[in-house]
Amino acid sequence: MASIMKRFWWERDDLEYRNGRLHLGEQDLAHFIESSGTPTFAYRGPRFVENLNRIHDALNRQEVSHRIHYAMKANRYPPLLTYARLMGKCGIDVCSPNELLLARQMGFKEHEIIYTGTSVSNQDLEIIARHPKVHVNCDAISTIRRLGERCPGREIGIRINPQLSASYVSYLSYGGEKATKFGIYPDRFEEALAVAEEYQLKITMLHVHSGAGYLNKHLPLFEQILEKMSTYLDQCPQIKQVDIGGGLGVPMIEEDNLLDLDRWATIVANFANPRGLEILLEPGDYLVKDTAVLLVEVNSVEEKGGTCFVGVNAGFSITNLPAYYDYPLIVSPVFYDSTVPLKTVTIAGHINEGLDVLAEDVVLPELKEGDYLAMMNVGGYSTSNSSNHCMRGDFSEYLFIE
Ligand SMILES: Cc1ncc(COP(=O)(O)O)c(C=O)c1O
Repeated sequence: MASIMKRFWWERDDLEYRNGRLHLGEQDLAHFIESSGTPTFAYRGPRFVENLNRIHDALNRQEVSHRIHYAMKANRYPPLLTYARLMGKCGIDVCSPNELLLARQMGFKEHEIIYTGTSVSNQDLEIIARHPKVHVNCDAISTIRRLGERCPGREIGIRINPQLSASYVSYLSYGGEKATKFGIYPDRFEEALAVAEEYQLKITMLHVHSGAGYLNKHLPLFEQILEKMSTYLDQCPQIKQVDIGGGLGVPMIEEDNLLDLDRWATIVANFANPRGLEILLEPGDYLVKDTAVLLVEVNSVEEKGGTCFVGVNAGFSITNLPAYYDYPLIVSPVFYDSTVPLKTVTIAGHINEGLDVLAEDVVLPELKEGDYLAMMNVGGYSTSNSSNHCMRGDFSEYLFIE
């Protein structure tokens, strides 16, 4: 007889076990996998909208005039992009010509697109020039000059390097003691303004990307980053739009707390409202991270050197979150039999490299070959970073609309 299962910290109304069977929205994943096969990413579209609405609602409660542009670099699955466009509650942020063209193909209009790229080439600029209504944030004086040569008089934004970063790991820093490639530093801001003026470029927006995966403990840093923008705004009183980038975090481990959006929105309001600013945001991961699960099959279970390795038919070629970003993946069986004894295991991928470990020391009911596992929080920066390493790049994707 099945024993009563405790609810895991990551379960929620639309991602939970029902009679031991993991469901995403209305979909029973144990049933779904029979037709989809593995490895498969399953996304729940409405979760994207719920995540988006949570941000809108928090900013609306603080009466912050704002627009949200989803950062496509986090996930560019075409059905999800069109779904997002049809829901009509966000624009899109792109960082390369191909992302720009994909945004257009998926239904976003030019004026709904923000382009914030780095190391921008002349070829990139030619494509940007063909889309005059796309808003461009320039992150280098060189970009301002070369865009000015092609599109004199165009409205632009200038990306500032805040010399601070609210990031969950230091190596994802966008600004700190060590110089980064992003944005313009204070010592060259006046030069940037002068180059823009030379080409009659109208600076309508300042941009700052605040970090990656920031949660409550990072909010004081986030506040300092916004305060830094004030110095620049004082020099350019005509600017009434500030793009505060992305970086909002989602809990990855049980000890993480949900980002307190009311506290966050109060910080934004204290910065924006007295100055009469419109705030733009480019969240990526916050919107998509928890929309998706990756379904995989167990192909081997074997003790090696005192560790029980569970080999699966996926690897860092399709989700490099643990290997590259140090994101801990949440792993759980698609069918959870709580009568089976628990065992501590390491989930290993099928790429021939030592760093292809998907999860270490996880406690799961004893697994056998042919079992199915779900990996949670894989909606952002998995498929968009995928490769064909070891020619193991294949996966399928499904969008659930309930
Ligand atoms: C300029 C810019 N905007 C938005 C994002 C999206 O960040 P996140 O997915 O952490 O919200 C990034 C991420 O690298 C970025 O560089």
